[in-house]
Amino acid sequence: MKDINNYINTNKDRFINELIDLLKIPSISADPAYSKDVLATAEAVKKSLEDAGCENTEICETKGYPVVYGDKIIDPDLPTVLVYGHYDVQPPDPIDLWDSPPFEPVIKNTDLHPNGAIFARGACDDKGQFFMHVKAVEYMINNNALPCNVKFMIEGEEEVGSDSLEDFLKENSEKLKNDIILISDTGMIANDTPSITTGLRGLSYVEVEVTGANRDLHSGIYGGAAPNPINVLAKMIAQLHDENNHITIPGFYDKVEVISDEERAEMAKAPFDLEAYKKSLDIGDVHGEKGYSTPERFGIRPTLDVNGIWGGYTGEGAKTVIASKAYAKISMRLVPDQDWHEITELFQKHFESLAPKSVKVKVKPHHGGQAYVTPIDSIGYQAASKAMETTFGKTPVPQRTGGSIPIVALFENVFDSKTILLGFGLDSDAIHSPNEHFGVWNFLKGIETIPYFYKYYTEMKG
Ligand code: BES
Ligand code: MN
Ligand code: MN
Repeated sequence: MKDINNYINTNKDRFINELIDLLKIPSISADPAYSKDVLATAEAVKKSLEDAGCENTEICETKGYPVVYGDKIIDPDLPTVLVYGHYDVQPPDPIDLWDSPPFEPVIKNTDLHPNGAIFARGACDDKGQFFMHVKAVEYMINNNALPCNVKFMIEGEEEVGSDSLEDFLKENSEKLKNDIILISDTGMIANDTPSITTGLRGLSYVEVEVTGANRDLHSGIYGGAAPNPINVLAKMIAQLHDENNHITIPGFYDKVEVISDEERAEMAKAPFDLEAYKKSLDIGDVHGEKGYSTPERFGIRPTLDVNGIWGGYTGEGAKTVIASKAYAKISMRLVPDQDWHEITELFQKHFESLAPKSVKVKVKPHHGGQAYVTPIDSIGYQAASKAMETTFGKTPVPQRTGGSIPIVALFENVFDSKTILLGFGLDSDAIHSPNEHFGVWNFLKGIETIPYFYKYYTEMKG
């Protein structure tokens, strides 16, 4: 396995250039205008699996964008690792805030990435990260160092909720059968503080519409007498948290897993610098639920956040108007053992109950997913931990993070397999934001670490 470093040194420029080519295709799954590009990316991913030495590569149709499959089965009696990733990306907006165009990748140094970072939409989330697996497998196949079987499943709808994936998994459960699932679509604490994500939050995403009068009104003639749906919506939203930033939806916390004081004390050992956190966001103070630390607020507690709010006149200058409608998009991040369908219903009921008689309210559920926690005493976690220890020279810290990958809970239901979240990005890599980037060092470190996971996992599985 030692020759992985030689392989990386010899091939790193090619690895980076191949990733750059992939990043040039704007595979924005949310915007139908880019559907050709999303499909072109699937083709490019398929080709990259073939070039790496995978077999049975296939573009698998789904109700939505296709899943790219490829495998290398060396012996059906050996364990099988299923690598999951996504080739779709978030929209780059707001485009004006990018220092360089989002689909014209450039390498620049940053404070945290003195050896350069690749700036492009998808660099870290998730093209750069799933591509580490393609290159690690290329190394293992070329050097007869693949100790077990590997299957790839790279999807194209993660950023819009993986709607087609549940059916796809069920229909292809034989083909995708595995012993463990390996994903790099999360982050780690810092380059000198490796960590492994042990928990993801669930999600319930809804859109609300508040309607006042049957048409927009003159705000002088009608102002003060007719309902203003924007004022009403703002007040309804304000009522969703109490003075301790507790969510007020009845029953919302009923099923939240109680974490013991011992476990909280254990979690509090993970390094976290509150001052650096505030400084990096340029905020005067943090904000959140009373009685919980910042890492607890994003790791083990549920949330409710408005993601977007609109209505009325937002153009140049002033227009005196009372809009007929107001809207908001609201996300709730969930924790074990909240059920996202149930939470969506609780939200709907409560939100409707907050509405005064003067307005009509519609709640439209979008997508969601369940939370996930992976045990740290499993072979998979131990193998990942040992792999990182080998290449970072430090034992990684287990850490729950705030993001969601809804498919992970489904994997457990369909395959009864655990998922290992071996991410190499940093929170500051600006995923979903302008100037997303991925450290070149992180990219190469991932390629170096992944083969050790295969080695240790196969050995431990024995
Ligand atoms: N890769 C992220 C999730 C993530 C990032 C988890 C960092 C932990 C740390 C993923 O692509 C993502 O953005 N997920 C969405 C959910 C989805 C249903 C749109 C999210 O978390 O908002
Ligand atoms: Mn992702
Ligand atoms: Mn994402």
